Amino acid sequence: MSYTHIQNVVLDSTSGSLILHQGCLQAFIPDSDSYDTPSAREQTLDGRCCHVLPSLTDIHVHLREPGFEYKEDIASGLAAAAAGGFGRVLAMANTRPVNDQGSITRYMLQKAHEHHPDGPFLYPVGALTRGLKGKELAPLAELAEAGCRAFSNDGLPVQDNELFRRALEYASDLDIIVIDHCEDSFLSAGGVMNEGRMSDYLGLKGIPHVAESLQVSRDILLAAYLDIPVHLAHISCASSVELIYQAKQKSIPVSAETCPHYLHWSEELVKGYNTLARVNPPLRTPDDVLALRQAVRENVVDIIATDHAPHADFEKEVPFAQAPNGISGLDTALALCLDLVRRNVLQLQDLVRLMATSPARLFGLPVCTLEPGRPADFILVDLEHRWTPGPDTMLSKGKNTPCLGQTLQGRVMAHFLGGVPVINRL
Ligand code: DOR
Repeated sequence: MSYTHIQNVVLDSTSGSLILHQGCLQAFIPDSDSYDTPSAREQTLDGRCCHVLPSLTDIHVHLREPGFEYKEDIASGLAAAAAGGFGRVLAMANTRPVNDQGSITRYMLQKAHEHHPDGPFLYPVGALTRGLKGKELAPLAELAEAGCRAFSNDGLPVQDNELFRRALEYASDLDIIVIDHCEDSFLSAGGVMNEGRMSDYLGLKGIPHVAESLQVSRDILLAAYLDIPVHLAHISCASSVELIYQAKQKSIPVSAETCPHYLHWSEELVKGYNTLARVNPPLRTPDDVLALRQAVRENVVDIIATDHAPHADFEKEVPFAQAPNGISGLDTALALCLDLVRRNVLQLQDLVRLMATSPARLFGLPVCTLEPGRPADFILVDLEHRWTPGPDTMLSKGKNTPCLGQTLQGRVMAHFLGGVPVINRL
């Protein structure tokens, strides 16, 4: 069904109707203005007082295909993206086989096109090193040629500083940004949660926050020395925020992301050995949560990404120390972030910057501005709608989120890409 009029929506606090024409936004007509009522009734959608926001971009997801389709596949992952409001996603390379050759990249793109021709759109992230082993560079030019939008060794950070330096240089020659998962794997070895009071209490081996910030500082030093941008993935602690703040003061070309879970939950959630709260980097202290909230508000951390990491139920239903790391995020990210808006931590416009404009700009993807003449890539969000994440409401195969079974407020009711509804709950 294609729509030309979407009535009864709210754009920038004004109620009115959106007019679409040939996949683009033609106009927004406030209720106070009169305009010809649409003649073809079936082309009109009642927006039921939903807020219009740009379609979101998630630069950090794990879609698991090829190789781990029991956790997620490209079809289900992109369905969850559509439902969560994400029109464009960057998918990490820790698949099996690893996305370290052009044929894998092309396979992923073909699957995405087959199952979701109208979007959401998939942008593969190529492995930085062969097999993600951190020993030799992957064929970066081949990966770029095949369609990779970024390079990363996510999950298995490159410890060899010389190799990482060369990776930054090669990637920069190709005009592609490296996304680094910052973790000193010697300091984090064997750890399963944040190191501190709670890990002592639970008797679990901890990962100190310096395991992250040590590598953040390495990356900042290299970015400054080479004058090459680097993007820091899923920042989780105050000590990293402080380093990023100082780097930005000196105009060093770094950018950073954090995730909804680090903005919401602390290590307290691990109490009771809750495997749904096991993630890497781990949930940190309440003070770290506060520092990250301030960092996204003040644009020290530029982006909110989900690090969508779906796992099967049976994998999480094991003792804490044996459970895999990861939180499923695509279905719930927006609702969690809207909670921050309700609590006045962020404004709605901050969410647009953090989840739509900044991620798209950084990776050269289309930026949805909601201006007349631009592609009709937008979501209709009901800020009041209450719902409960669970098997019936989440489209990801991975139900592994700490908010499973809890009531969330705020939901994407419809999602349009190029004027085509990729999800419509209205
Ligand atoms: O918690 C995580 N899960 N962190 C990562 O870096 C990788 C991810 C995964 O692939 O499951």
